[in-house]
Amino acid sequence: MLKMVLASGNKNKYREMRSVLQETGIDLLFGGDFNMPVEVEETGDTYEENSYIKAKAWMDFTGCAAIADDSGIEVDALGCVPGVHSARIVPGSDADRTNWLLAQMAGKEDRTARFVACLVAVFPEIDKPIVCQKNCEGKLAFTPAGSSGFGYDPIFIPNGYDKTFSELGDEIKQKISHRALALKGIAEMLLPVVQSIAVRKDENVLCASDDCRRADSESKHWEE
Ligand code: IMP
Repeated sequence: MLKMVLASGNKNKYREMRSVLQETGIDLLFGGDFNMPVEVEETGDTYEENSYIKAKAWMDFTGCAAIADDSGIEVDALGCVPGVHSARIVPGSDADRTNWLLAQMAGKEDRTARFVACLVAVFPEIDKPIVCQKNCEGKLAFTPAGSSGFGYDPIFIPNGYDKTFSELGDEIKQKISHRALALKGIAEMLLPVVQSIAVRKDENVLCASDDCRRADSESKHWEE
């Protein structure tokens, strides 16, 4: 298995990604198990730039292949705002940001919106990053509804449904969400890459990521 570190300390993301990437021959390591000295700033103008900045920083720090994601919600009537700024468009809680977005939409007829997720994987052995970006199209509700999920889930109704992501719950979300689609896509793209690295390793041409500098022992590795 090729070791790859998730450039995030979010255990939900880790759990979701680990099982999918395992089928691709990747042993995903939890970013929270490393003592990354500084928080990586997302200074890019696009999801791809931000994902790349994070993945590259984690690869440089750990010596391992790394994968990062960036995501957001885009509302057509607001010119695709908040987009890459979704997590910090206004200070406060998820509910504060959701209420802010609903307030911006007052009087607007077009409520079409989409969630966007971009995953970027980088390898010490390969110059070019592997990138997969996917959308989940839908529209904004008029009021928050439902209790599952996070962020803008209570006000996002995906196409083909009449309930918000928060009402629909995790099982449906994990089938149709932007992140699920991007993860499936990048797993397919990574399969031949992982295989070619394994072959080259076998031939002793290069030493892949076995010497990953983990901060802690296996004991801290997150498990359910
Ligand atoms: P980041 O990708 O962790 O930088 O955060 C992106 C932000 O976009 C999150 O903090 C949420 O506000 C929003 N977001 C991204 N994906 C989702 C989702 O699946 N549901 C709800 N909000 C999301």
